[in-house]
Amino acid sequence: MAKTALITGILGQDGPYLAKLLLEKGYKVYGLIRRYSSPHYENLQFLGIMDKINFVDGDLTDDASLLNVIKTVRPEEVYNLAAQSFVAASWEQAKITTEINALGVLSLLNAIKYFSPTSKFYQASTSEMFGLGNDNGYQDENTMFHPRSPYGISKVYAYWMTVNFRESYGIYTSNGILFNHESPLRGIQFVTRKITDGVAKIKLGMAKNISLGNLAAKRDWGFAGDYVEAMYLMLQQKDPDDYVVGTGEFHSVQDFVALAFKQIGVSDWKQYVIIDPRYNRPAEVPHLRARTTKVNTKLGWKPKVTFEELVSMMVTADIKRQEMVLKNS
Ligand code: NAP
Ligand code: GDD
Repeated sequence: MAKTALITGILGQDGPYLAKLLLEKGYKVYGLIRRYSSPHYENLQFLGIMDKINFVDGDLTDDASLLNVIKTVRPEEVYNLAAQSFVAASWEQAKITTEINALGVLSLLNAIKYFSPTSKFYQASTSEMFGLGNDNGYQDENTMFHPRSPYGISKVYAYWMTVNFRESYGIYTSNGILFNHESPLRGIQFVTRKITDGVAKIKLGMAKNISLGNLAAKRDWGFAGDYVEAMYLMLQQKDPDDYVVGTGEFHSVQDFVALAFKQIGVSDWKQYVIIDPRYNRPAEVPHLRARTTKVNTKLGWKPKVTFEELVSMMVTADIKRQEMVLKNS
């Protein structure tokens, strides 16, 4: 019998990569989708798996829909990737961010507790929870949380609720504390995709510049396709646990910009970049870098794609996309 997995956030960046991995492993994959005026399946189509997903309707802010899905599907594994995941938007939309990212997780955990307590549960926790917290410039499983955004705060609640369901009810729940991971499927508002999309358009004469905020911020950027393997591994262990997942390296936004322009043969990138303070955040997280000893040793997980390969992959994909746009216009 095929194992069953339910993925929330199936239409985002990570959902399709995880679904592809699980399908390759023989899983029957259910994907939770919420009501949308115009459904958007591009990321599943990009990976060629659109027709292999069993879609179920539900919303993290609607308890009854989650109870119904968990009761009907009774998945062996639940990967909760759904979130209002854009940090910058979380100041202006703090309440809905909290309802989805914090209370939504409580509702999903309760649905599991009542209707499928043997399901294993993965929570998409984040390095944003660390915020200003660090230990000699690194963050790991023992680093104090000091979130700097309503997004980070909502995720701290979900993190501890996930731990609490493990400790209170013996449910197999794990937090993956993932550092930034990117890909050609990354949402266009996030800085990496904004840069690679802009670089592609500049190369093809479709744009003149890119407007950005804080170029000094540093992130530990990896490839989303590698990170979903760590999610899967977390649910295959004898005992549930929480893991930091990253590369252990960090780079500034400026490094990313310079490398992306280098892909199209431009070294003097400054002529194409406008610094716009509108993109600065009320409270910034200046640097995030993972100490990955636990995930490397306990799960045997290591990233495969380097920073340079990631930038190149994203620029190449965006050039291809924009060439198609030009061809069809
Ligand atoms: P993403 O591209 O923003 O995808 C999030 C998905 O959640 C979207 O498909 C969205 O649905 C869905 N969603 C939002 N609100 C929902 C609701 N109320 N009910 C049901 N679904 C809802 O995010 P991602 O980059 O794939 O990240 C996946 C998860 O990992 C998120 O929880 C994020 O916070 C976390 N995380 C991401 C990173 C990273 O660097 N990517 C790092 C650490 C943690 P629609 O498509 O309908 O909008
Ligand atoms: N989005 C954006 N747009 N960010 C910019 C810009 C810009 O024009 N200019 C500079 N930045 C800086 C931000 O201030 C931030 O320091 C950094 O680029 C990265 O921003 P994002 O790509 O929006 O990602 P994030 O780090 O805030 O959040 C992502 O990673 C988290 C894990 O650390 C998201 O995927 C979160 O959902 C995830 O939890």
